[in-house]
Amino acid sequence: DQDPRIARISSAIRVIPDFPKKGIMFQDITTLLLDTKAFRDTIDLFVERYRDKDISVVAGVEARGFIFGPPIALALGAKFVPLRKPKKLPGEVISEEYSLEYGTDKIEMHVGAVQPGERALVIDDLIATGGTLCAAIKLLERVGVHVVECACVIELPELKVCIPIISNTNMLSEL
Ligand code: PRP
Repeated sequence: DQDPRIARISSAIRVIPDFPKKGIMFQDITTLLLDTKAFRDTIDLFVERYRDKDISVVAGVEARGFIFGPPIALALGAKFVPLRKPKKLPGEVISEEYSLEYGTDKIEMHVGAVQPGERALVIDDLIATGGTLCAAIKLLERVGVHVVECACVIELPELKVCIPIISNTNMLSEL
């Protein structure tokens, strides 16, 4: 049986058709942030799942992983590490490139933000193809971090193509 909090969270997410372009059903989590109970429940569901998993790092994917990641990190007593789009971080970075429908993109992390042997949870708002989370996992594994799980609020299952590497990803609807 699904946790009753999930239905409320789900209904607090607004879907906007044809944004940012025709044919895309945009999942707008800003309305979830306006519903203080649903927002708190979202954070609590993740915290309940990861509380006893010895997580020392929560890595948030730009941009909406920066909204959900920090409250989860604070509640777990873990540090928060932003995984950013290129050329945003001021210090020395390592980066991981990944494919988009047309072309490539990159995420970057500060060198020294994490240490080998640390246990990480990766947070984003949404998984579509899984390309972004795959890149996040690779980036963290390259520096010797163990990615315990990835977690996001929303899943667009019809788009998922990276299943082997992101099989340890949990969507809220499955918790
Ligand atoms: C969205 C979403 C994820 C990513 C998922 O971000 O927030 O980060 O796409 O897609 P994928 O599973 O196919 O990789 P977006 O690219 O819109 O960037 P933004 O958060 O900076 O707006």
